[in-house]
Amino acid sequence: MIAAEIEREFNTHIQFEMASSYLYLSMAAWCDGQGLKGFSNWMRQQAEEERLHVMRFFDFVLDRGGSVRLAAIDAPQATWESPLAVFEAAHAHECEVTRRIHALVDTVLEIRDHAANAFLQWFVNEQVEEEANAADVVARLRLVGDDGRGILLIDQELARRTAPVAAE
Ligand code: FEO
Repeated sequence: MIAAEIEREFNTHIQFEMASSYLYLSMAAWCDGQGLKGFSNWMRQQAEEERLHVMRFFDFVLDRGGSVRLAAIDAPQATWESPLAVFEAAHAHECEVTRRIHALVDTVLEIRDHAANAFLQWFVNEQVEEEANAADVVARLRLVGDDGRGILLIDQELARRTAPVAAE
């Protein structure tokens, strides 16, 4: 059985991960509108990955006998100044996800919910990759600056990002 406090905080996190998916979908739409199909593809795959994160929390809460209560999601930001700005925003967002995951670990350790702690460790590791993936694109965009050919080369590379695979 899941403690009421953990159930509440996990429900809040479900909303945040779903809002993350919504944000990346908005970023995908903006990139597509700029003619950057590869950047858009990266963001679409990221949106899907966030939805899979939602489902991990969703299933965990239900498996522990808790209730899932989906909350409203605000409209995400719709425009950015540049491809660099959009990826800087994505990286900052991932840092916030990491902060929230670590806060959840602190909470479950306080009440000694070992199952929840084991569950969250997957996310602790995942966030290292999530931050690195966005930071990597930010670094390359800073290298090419305003060079349109450089941006198009990165766009071609990001077009190759494939769909995430759901956990078994
Ligand atoms: Fe679900 Fe990108 O963290």
